[in-house]
Amino acid sequence: MTKRIGITNQKGGVSKTTNTINVAGGLADRGLDVLAIDMDPQGYLTHRLGFKEAYKADSPNFADALNSPSDYDIRNLVVTHDEYDLLPANIDMFHLEQELIGSGMRPRLRLSDVLESVDDWDVMVIDSPPSLGPLNDNVVLAAENLLVPVEADESSQLALTHLLRQLDTLEDNYGAAIDILGVIVSNVSYPLDNEQQSSIDWYEDRFEGRVPVWIIRSRAALKRAVKSGGSVFADDAEDVDMAAVYAEIGEEVAP
Ligand SMILES: Nc1ncnc2c1ncn2[C@@H]1O[C@H](COP(=O)(O)OP(=O)(O)O)[C@@H](O)[C@H]1O
Ligand SMILES: [Mg+2]
Repeated sequence: MTKRIGITNQKGGVSKTTNTINVAGGLADRGLDVLAIDMDPQGYLTHRLGFKEAYKADSPNFADALNSPSDYDIRNLVVTHDEYDLLPANIDMFHLEQELIGSGMRPRLRLSDVLESVDDWDVMVIDSPPSLGPLNDNVVLAAENLLVPVEADESSQLALTHLLRQLDTLEDNYGAAIDILGVIVSNVSYPLDNEQQSSIDWYEDRFEGRVPVWIIRSRAALKRAVKSGGSVFADDAEDVDMAAVYAEIGEEVAP
């Protein structure tokens, strides 16, 4: 069965897309068949992986499929990247939240519907938009297994508190069993200042013993890999020590 992993946090700039690229890269590097899915209407994942054209493509595209799941097969929309496959975001997804809510029909279960009986991949890694709206709810309900990227600062702690409350609401309203598989404190620069240290302590107090808390350090080479269109596991990527952490995350989420 295909395992689905959502990478989610409504806060922008906490490394959702960077972590999606590299978690997917690590899983693919182990020989797993991986599909990355871009649920952010801004399409940064799609752009980073080099599929600008797909982002601007007319119908049929991912927005159509989410609008009308029974009329489209997402397998026909998937594009092939060097390391893994991608279901690209489309610019038409900007209007989607309003359309889904307006339709009144399973607005938060469209991604689940779209992925139903799609089992061509071992793992799906789903990137999320920076908001707590219906698109993010679609990711959470389709995946149920989540990795939560955060930064080591107070505003990220507050954002995580809001996210946890939203997950409780979704569990209550949909009978979903949502699992946080781990927290990824991302883009951390050493030496830590007081705020960063107390923030990391806060995440560890809250989660350690229940789920892993990983630290991904800020690394220019990691940023360069993403900029050149792939993960730190790509054939042409420079060696980056953080690849070992991404490999560990992959082992945890898809043993
Ligand atoms: N470990 C890291 N090292 C260096 N730069 C990073 C790292 N993680 C994220 N970044 C940078 O931080 C910015 C925000 O990351 P991004 O993945 O786009 O966040 P999000 O998807 O949550 O908005 C990007 O410019 C990205 O290159
Ligand atoms: Mg992003």
